[in-house]
Amino acid sequence: MKVLVAGASGALGRPLIRRLRDAGHEVWGLAHRPDSLKTIERLGAHPLKGDALNRDNIFEIVERIRPEVVIDQLTSLPASPFDLPKSLPADCRLRLEGGGNLFEAARTFKVQRYVQQLSGFYLDGEDGLATEASPLRINAPGTIGESARMYTALEKRGSSAQEMEGVGLRYGFFYGPGTWYWPDGAFSRHLFKGEVSLIGKGSSTFSFIHVDDAAQATVAALTAPAGLYNVVDSQPTKMSEWLPAYARWIGSDAPPRFDEQEAFHLLGKESVYFQTRLTGACNRKALQILGLSPQRLAWLGV
Ligand SMILES: NC(=O)c1ccc[n+]([C@@H]2O[C@H](COP(=O)([O-])OP(=O)(O)OC[C@H]3O[C@@H](n4cnc5c(N)ncnc54)[C@H](OP(=O)(O)O)[C@@H]3O)[C@@H](O)[C@H]2O)c1
Repeated sequence: MKVLVAGASGALGRPLIRRLRDAGHEVWGLAHRPDSLKTIERLGAHPLKGDALNRDNIFEIVERIRPEVVIDQLTSLPASPFDLPKSLPADCRLRLEGGGNLFEAARTFKVQRYVQQLSGFYLDGEDGLATEASPLRINAPGTIGESARMYTALEKRGSSAQEMEGVGLRYGFFYGPGTWYWPDGAFSRHLFKGEVSLIGKGSSTFSFIHVDDAAQATVAALTAPAGLYNVVDSQPTKMSEWLPAYARWIGSDAPPRFDEQEAFHLLGKESVYFQTRLTGACNRKALQILGLSPQRLAWLGV
């Protein structure tokens, strides 16, 4: 198939290009920085220089390439998760406005299928794991609520694809090379500096996904029935379990602990919510339909 990947040089875009090429697809990779275009070419895709925020530019590209599938992996996230509050407005703009240009161009030029990056980590599973029917936590404090409202808007856009088939992939927290959660990643650096603490009972449940497993599921999504899929691993794990294990895995000291009251005053409401209220997600549908076969979390059992 002719596949256009936007965000092709990102943490997921890179393994995705490799897997798309291995599966025999012809791949075009959109990015805007010169170094990223070289990376895309090295990985075996045709590099496309373009700015998603420039509507004319994106329409010209989609009209020229005429892909059968567009995969939207556009993000503008910071090098460190601690900088999210600063960078979230630009990220929202890129995904809503930039992704909106891509979506409209895809519809205009009769792309068959549009695959959208979504979130599997701010879903509301109430007392259990979130399914594909679960909503996002739009009333959560701070950047969690803001992100949830943005992902909700993206889900709504995807379901309005009309004659184009919309596939929404709700990825868990990414880990693996080039992500925050990896030995050389930003989260590890913060842990080493003692800047990450464990709050209260650490009762939030996290669903992670290795970027290479996410890439496998994304390739499978090219031919699977349209709709939403939770692309998360099979080990939803409480913060109180995974955070100390992660610290051991990278060789850092155990994170300091705060009770909820202390953390509320020192770190704010959002940090307390992040560590005590999140629910994981159920991946049954992705296992069955996308053939997802997630690897074990690298740091558990170390
Ligand atoms: N599910 C998750 O947990 C999740 C999801 C996404 C990201 N993250 C984390 O966020 C961090 C950064 O992610 P990342 O490496 O994927 O992000 P990134 O380096 O910001 O890359 C995003 C992609 O979007 C492209 N892009 C950005 N602005 C664009 C524009 N205006 N026009 C066209 N293309 C544009 C980038 O191209 P250029 O390279 O040319 O800038 C790049 O290909 C990582 O640690 C990652 O793990 C986590």
